[in-house]
Amino acid sequence: MTQSPGQGNALDNLLTESRTFPPSDEFAAQANAQPALYEEAKADREAFWAKQAERLHWETKWDQVLDWSDAPFAKWFVGGKLNVAYNCVDRHVESGHGEQVAIHWEGEPGDSRAITYAELQREVSKAANALTSLGIGAEDRVAIYMPMIPEAIFSMLACARVGALHNVVFGGFSAEALRTRIQDSEARVVITTDGQYRRGNPAPLKPAVDEAVAGAPSVEKVIVVKRTDTEVAWTDKDVWWHELVDSQSDQHTPEAFDSEHPLFILYTSGTTGKPKGILHTSGGYLTQASYTHFNVFDLKPDTDVYWCTADIGWVTGHSYIVYGPLSNRVTQVVYEGTPNTPNEGRHWDIVQKYGVSIYYTAPTLIRTFMKWGADIPAKYDLSTLRVLGSVGEPINPEAWIWYRENIGGGKAPIVDTWWQTETGAIMISPLPGVVSTKPGSAQRPLPGIGAKVVNDEGVEVPHGGGGYLVLDEPWPSMLRGIWGDEERYRDTYWSRFGEQGFYFAGDGAKYDNDGDIWLLGRVDDVMNVSGHRISTTEVESALVSHPTVAEAAVVGASDETTGQGIVAFVILRGGAGADAGGADAIKALRDHVAKEIGPIAKPRQIMVVPELPKTRSGKIMRRLLRDVAENRTVGDVTTLADSSVMDLISAGLQSGKSED
Ligand code: WTA
Repeated sequence: MTQSPGQGNALDNLLTESRTFPPSDEFAAQANAQPALYEEAKADREAFWAKQAERLHWETKWDQVLDWSDAPFAKWFVGGKLNVAYNCVDRHVESGHGEQVAIHWEGEPGDSRAITYAELQREVSKAANALTSLGIGAEDRVAIYMPMIPEAIFSMLACARVGALHNVVFGGFSAEALRTRIQDSEARVVITTDGQYRRGNPAPLKPAVDEAVAGAPSVEKVIVVKRTDTEVAWTDKDVWWHELVDSQSDQHTPEAFDSEHPLFILYTSGTTGKPKGILHTSGGYLTQASYTHFNVFDLKPDTDVYWCTADIGWVTGHSYIVYGPLSNRVTQVVYEGTPNTPNEGRHWDIVQKYGVSIYYTAPTLIRTFMKWGADIPAKYDLSTLRVLGSVGEPINPEAWIWYRENIGGGKAPIVDTWWQTETGAIMISPLPGVVSTKPGSAQRPLPGIGAKVVNDEGVEVPHGGGGYLVLDEPWPSMLRGIWGDEERYRDTYWSRFGEQGFYFAGDGAKYDNDGDIWLLGRVDDVMNVSGHRISTTEVESALVSHPTVAEAAVVGASDETTGQGIVAFVILRGGAGADAGGADAIKALRDHVAKEIGPIAKPRQIMVVPELPKTRSGKIMRRLLRDVAENRTVGDVTTLADSSVMDLISAGLQSGKSED
């Protein structure tokens, strides 16, 4: 969607938002982050980041904070050596906190497990020894395709411990999506489970791995955790976790790796059909994940119980379940399942059960809770909650206020955190004890971070003006490239404002009159569905790979619950048969997309049309299709090659409309 920032966007009318909520005096006084943090960072950015890096244990200290001479490939804490897993686990045991619970794990069926730091150290050591026994070492790639169970976290940390890169693939992705990610990263090992619990029932997971691995020759071994006790087919590459890992020694000496040693690859949608393997490295990434987690969530390791509801398949799960929190010696809740199993109060039941004090979730879920009704959280004791977070998409002020009133007891500060898979850690967010929060705005760059809103020419817009969000200074947790594709890295992020040397985030944004930043959504062909990035092209290629489809155009239309919903316009092939546009055929198309990409990419609606609106140069005019999808009067059609096409589409819709 090439959309000018702010145009036709539901957020426009909210920019007059004038309510602000200052932190209470008590909160401000005890907050980890004090106003001086901004001053300190401004006075000497590199010295500031060097100080933040001291949060970690370095086996060898760095001799240079930042080397930007090879831009856009940054090197942070040059010459430093550390082990990321040691920083997240062992050092807490060594400092006398072995008995502190690291993870209160809550399974969907109601089983639970409390894992102390000492136990975490043993589990991660065993898993690391298991990987070593399979010949996995520094720079090897390991794919992880698992539900939210403790072994998923053990696996990630075990990879970090031996210097291997993990490539976590969300368990909701299809076999095909898994295969392309395994293949692109040339993973040698896959870690998975027999099945996963979803809405109260076990669902198979391993068959997707079998299918993916059959087409991915790089894979030598598949480690399978028994989670649901589902019968699974077995190949000679498969090995049970409980047979391989549980028999290993629980002692393992971590090796220190270079600060720029690669830590993980995580695939995310871009503007083409091929997902991008975003590459992150060690020292800078962990520094910023740790610093932001400590300051933005005001974490008190001795008293807080933290809960981030993300899945480890997304970057939020990497940075704010695994690396940031564990590096800060968190006690956290990890929940396996869906929010309405066995009923719509599950999250609040968990908050009450563990006394959760910091809760970090996505706007789409908040809107779902709103729909379910305020009487549900009202039945639980949520008084322990003291900081609330939001991530993944712009949060509309209504949802923000609902969150504050009904979950935060009208007093917990809300931190609206803007960042991306590529940025690795939070970039824009209020500091909860310093900044008066404003519903709907992510407000200002964190101390040490440079972000601006600029116009087409790269010139900063005045207060009240809109444009593109750019990052004008390198930051420690920035991506170090796209796996195997340097050119795409340069093109995607650094060419748009190449002259100025800005990183282009792909988001539209606006300053309000106070200079606070409001995010306005993507300005490229990337949709944001329930906080998940899905490219229009990816869904289009999935659709045209179906034998009945000749051409497809996909747009993200605004959706009350999911932020955006996927709406597809398809032209059927000549010989597709009379039934091809019927309800069953449409359902088959939706299922086909789910099979190709995953259920999250299923179009909300598919419309069969006789033509697509194209410019004279053949470019599909998504703007017009979005008008149709959002039931608006169709806008300016003068650049269309054939302006009668929109009439045809509208006429076709009367008969071909389908929704389920
Ligand atoms: C969007 C998720 C507004 C944005 C951490 C960004 C947001 C994309 C916010 C990255 C927010 C994320 N306000 N928009 N607080 N947080 N976004 O890579 O469009 O899955 O570019 O990372 O989500 O999505 P990703």
